[in-house]
Amino acid sequence: MPKPSKVSVRLMGIAVLAMLFLTGCGGPYFPFFEEPPAQEIVSLENMPPGNAQNGQALFMGKAHFEHEGPPCMGCHSVGENGILGGGAMGPNLTNVTADLDQADILGVLSNSGPVISPVMKPIYTDAPLTAQEQADLLAFLEASVGQPEAEREGWVLGISLGGSVFGAAVLGFIYRNRLRTVRRALVEKAQKESR
Ligand code: HEC
Repeated sequence: MPKPSKVSVRLMGIAVLAMLFLTGCGGPYFPFFEEPPAQEIVSLENMPPGNAQNGQALFMGKAHFEHEGPPCMGCHSVGENGILGGGAMGPNLTNVTADLDQADILGVLSNSGPVISPVMKPIYTDAPLTAQEQADLLAFLEASVGQPEAEREGWVLGISLGGSVFGAAVLGFIYRNRLRTVRRALVEKAQKESR
């Protein structure tokens, strides 16, 4: 058997590293070889009792979903929950239980109801929410009805203004000597010429 060339050994090394990387990114299961876990479809009758506090922790990413789905606040806000009041890609869910009944919301969470989010479906099909997680999230959403919503604009403005001031300060610090030396050179040149 011919010895593998150096190049092919190196290529194999790269392939192994790439596979390890992909496994890491794919979460707890290998995305290409394993089926995602089954959707747990719950109804109001057989739903386990929900805990709004757990729901909030899951929503905010303080607690992890069993199948490693992304936290809701990446795309949604609820009341004042979220970074800058949460993501803006999905609708604000503060009063969602006024628009959708509980069964519809459970349907969204298990990709099985009359209301399906085309954005969420692929994500939470690969990383389904457990029955308990759905119940906790529902309890959290119910508890948030009527809460004041986060005032996002003020924060965004504040942070961007703060950022500009900080950036100016950093630039000023970096260029402080440069300006001085340039100015000194100019002054010296002018003095020389006027002599
Ligand atoms: C990747 C972004 C994203 C993530 C993460 C996400 N959502 Fe959504 N969600 C959306 C979008 C966008 C919609 C609106 C429907 C659409 O365009 O797909 C939506 C719709 C909904 C709705 C229906 C709202 C309505 O008025 O119809 C509910 C309820 C909901 N999401 C709850 C959640 C919960 C709970 C989580 C966390 C488990 C979550 N979402 C995670 C993007 C996201």
